[in-house]
Amino acid sequence: EKGTYPHYMLKEIDEQPAVMRNIITAYQGDSGKIELDQDIREAVKNADRLYIIACGTSFHAGLVGKQLLEGIAKVPTEVHIASEFSYNMPLLSEKPLFIFISQSGETADSRSVLVQVKKLGYPTITLTNVQGSTLSREADHTLLLHAGPEIAVASTKAYTAQIAVLTLLAVDVATTKDLHHDFDVIHELSLVAQAMEVLVDQKELMEHLAHNYFETVRNAFYIGRGIDYYVCMEAALKLKEISYIQAEGFAGGELKHGTIALIEEGTPVIAIATQSHVNGSIRSNLKEVAARGANTCIISMESTAEDDDQIILPEVHEYLTPLVAAVPVQLLAYYAALQRDCDVDKPRNLAKSVTVE
Ligand code: F6R
Repeated sequence: EKGTYPHYMLKEIDEQPAVMRNIITAYQGDSGKIELDQDIREAVKNADRLYIIACGTSFHAGLVGKQLLEGIAKVPTEVHIASEFSYNMPLLSEKPLFIFISQSGETADSRSVLVQVKKLGYPTITLTNVQGSTLSREADHTLLLHAGPEIAVASTKAYTAQIAVLTLLAVDVATTKDLHHDFDVIHELSLVAQAMEVLVDQKELMEHLAHNYFETVRNAFYIGRGIDYYVCMEAALKLKEISYIQAEGFAGGELKHGTIALIEEGTPVIAIATQSHVNGSIRSNLKEVAARGANTCIISMESTAEDDDQIILPEVHEYLTPLVAAVPVQLLAYYAALQRDCDVDKPRNLAKSVTVE
């Protein structure tokens, strides 16, 4: 039920701090530490490479997951769009483990890959929000998202839940492999929940910025580097699917290799700049487009912020910035769609779960 909320999407955006806390509780063992299923641990330990398979927003969560699994757990990880993998299977490693990410657990493109790799005898895990869903039943193991039902077509809390569960997986693998790390995952995810609370309370600011940047435009760009680039892809998808503004997420350094030709007077370009090691370079990419008339906006962290940045995110661990950057970009898309009189919860041409290939 959406209660007093005008739309499910807004309710689901607001639920994200609680979802982070639910995930911690759901995966906390008697010891108070995070404890994943022993079989899942073994499966990851026995694999020489992880293959994440997903579509849309879940694919974008998978890209962030690759950073976490390689960065924290040191497991080589590839991320593939299900419909591409299905028809153009890449060369596989000797001991692959497949991880399917699907909010609904019913996406036909992802299932088609699951069926193929099961035939080849490879182990499989599904990360899903729906217990008993097809992908959950057919995979060897399931990791649940604990996000509660997601009704709005545009995925919000499932995306952040997917990243949070992938974080738990990465940290758990690192611990079982005896890798030295100082990542106190319960503490870090609690900080994320607090930061999300601050951000969901900034609705007036987001509404105002949506008006400034998106009210009448036909296209928009999100730019970022590294992990921020992956969040840009998701930010652009949110904006296009509910406000119908043509939006793209770009790697900051790649703009000048062609796409900068699209920048005109007033084109919105929003930079996500949460990573200190690329802060200078992404800011200079933004200056390049501003010089060509772009209407620029910057989303930074407290530690990377400059005085006139439009959105400043509370500090969280550098691997977890996608969880907090997601909130303002979801709200920007929401208000842009509202201001343009779009049907926020049920955008045209889209269904909540895509059960045809
Ligand atoms: C975007 C969106 C879609 C889904 C995609 C995969 O907001 O909701 O891109 O993420 O169709 O769906 P699941 O995760 O159910 O497999």
